[in-house]
Amino acid sequence: MTIEELRTAYIKFFVSKNHRQINGKSLIPENDPTVLFTTAGMHPLVPYLLGEEHPSGTRLVDFQKCIRTGDIDEVGDASHLTFFEMLGNWSLGDYFKKEAITMSYEFLTSFEWLGFSPESLSVTVFKGDGEVAADTESADVWRSLGIPDERIYFLPRKDNWWGPAGATGPCGPDTEMFIDTGKEPCGDTCRPGCSCGKYFEIWNDVFMEYEKKEDGTYVPLERKCVDTGMGIERTAAMLQGKDSVYETEYFTELISEIETISGKSYSSSGNRTSIRIITDHIRTAVFILGDERGVLPSNLGQGYILRRLIRRAIRHGRKLDIEGSFLPVLAGVVIEQYKNVYPELEDNRAFILKELAAEEERFSLTLKKGEKEFEKMLPNLLKSKNPVIPGRTAFKLYDTYGFPVELTEELARENGLGIDREGFEKAFAKHQELSKKGADKLFKGGLADHSEMTTALHTATHLLHKALRTVLGDHVQQKGSNITVERLRFDFTHPEKMTPEQIQEVEDIVNAQIEADLPVTMEVMSLDEAKARGALAFFGDKYGEQVKVYSIGDFSKEVCGGPHVERTGKMGHFRIKKEQSSSAGVRRIRAVLENS
Ligand code: SER
Repeated sequence: MTIEELRTAYIKFFVSKNHRQINGKSLIPENDPTVLFTTAGMHPLVPYLLGEEHPSGTRLVDFQKCIRTGDIDEVGDASHLTFFEMLGNWSLGDYFKKEAITMSYEFLTSFEWLGFSPESLSVTVFKGDGEVAADTESADVWRSLGIPDERIYFLPRKDNWWGPAGATGPCGPDTEMFIDTGKEPCGDTCRPGCSCGKYFEIWNDVFMEYEKKEDGTYVPLERKCVDTGMGIERTAAMLQGKDSVYETEYFTELISEIETISGKSYSSSGNRTSIRIITDHIRTAVFILGDERGVLPSNLGQGYILRRLIRRAIRHGRKLDIEGSFLPVLAGVVIEQYKNVYPELEDNRAFILKELAAEEERFSLTLKKGEKEFEKMLPNLLKSKNPVIPGRTAFKLYDTYGFPVELTEELARENGLGIDREGFEKAFAKHQELSKKGADKLFKGGLADHSEMTTALHTATHLLHKALRTVLGDHVQQKGSNITVERLRFDFTHPEKMTPEQIQEVEDIVNAQIEADLPVTMEVMSLDEAKARGALAFFGDKYGEQVKVYSIGDFSKEVCGGPHVERTGKMGHFRIKKEQSSSAGVRRIRAVLENS
């Protein structure tokens, strides 16, 4: 069974059991600042698990794209991935343990559906502790379905309890389903949950049975819910009789592409981990960039995770002696694989490829230099009694060469070194403190920071405004502008998405004005006169009687408070990084000036 056949079968099975199919959601959670990414199928459904009525009813089924980076160091083993998909069925105060487990069992073992042999199935249930009793009810259901006691494992809270999202709230025991791969047990204590690879976890049924109260007690819920999550890649691997998720079709396709590009063989164990890491990370990067709420590589939040993944993939590419750009080609493979299920990847194809290439280019320049720097200090470090990379060195690698600290850690590990993470955090915090002082000022409105970069970006905003009107038409009006030392953001009226050609044309026009080294001049006049002279002014009264009019050569004339550069020549190269919808009829552009 292929991944797509598994997806279809799951939905079909639960629809046949009166579930309504609902759409999965964005990878970037809405209204939840506590996590960076959607980590499980249940995530977007939390309000409904908490009691909110769902418009599609009380029995739901879906598939959800998920990202978990907590296990990133495990990536490359048989089962861990940073991006994966979760199939899920949901009971919102409808059925509970008996029906949920019975349906799981039928879907797993019936020949009409997945057809796993019942003998290959092991399950775990909650063992109970001082606070909550053992989940004998789930165990009884498994037993009644024919799973013998020796394959029903009672495990503690850390294995079989799904805690509330916060300190209080719905929670309960879960029962996890494992396929026995037939490998020899690694020892006497080998059991489901052991990392040796004998037992492959594929599905988890969570029973929201209690509410944890503020005083720490657990009170049975009146409206009990079921949240289940089946890992699509893991289950496909087991259905296909493979040892690892990397042997399933979407991965093997990427792996052979990497083999072609690098000339290195996956069958050689020296290459395998790097190849696996690249396949995992490129998938995740494509899904983050291509998400409905797409994110750019940056040094913050989701953007930082994206940057880490891309940069780590590049470094592993270099380990395989891939010298040039390779990520956009691999991204193309991922987009083809998933574009029917996730059309946003196709919609954002140009953006995904462009951003990957740009990040690759940025990091390629500094990766070599950073590695050289690292190698230079290596002999001395290895000679020292306590071979640890000092925090300030890790920070220098981060700040000067763009090495995410986790990458430096990995490099250190490969060379038998530790790293002073605390020292790094200190150096980093000091740097944050300094840049925060700048940032606080930035958003107070207008241009609070008059640094060279911000000023140049401000002038670029005027050039962009005029270029947009030239390319798209005079209906384009500025709606908002926000400038930081790193980028400009410009909102303007326009009814539709700009085409790649239009974006290119706008970039070319702006860059032509920069290259022409135009003078920027300012005159003070009345708003009426400014308008009569054709100056762009969209904020009417806001400007009062007398206004400043900034002209950039003969190209642009705009009412504005300034400041601006004196001439355009040294501003650098203008590049649009993103064009997206801001609100109805309003588009938003993010752009930067490079190499200035
Ligand atoms: N929330 C559970 C999990 O993530 C089941 O969906 O495993």
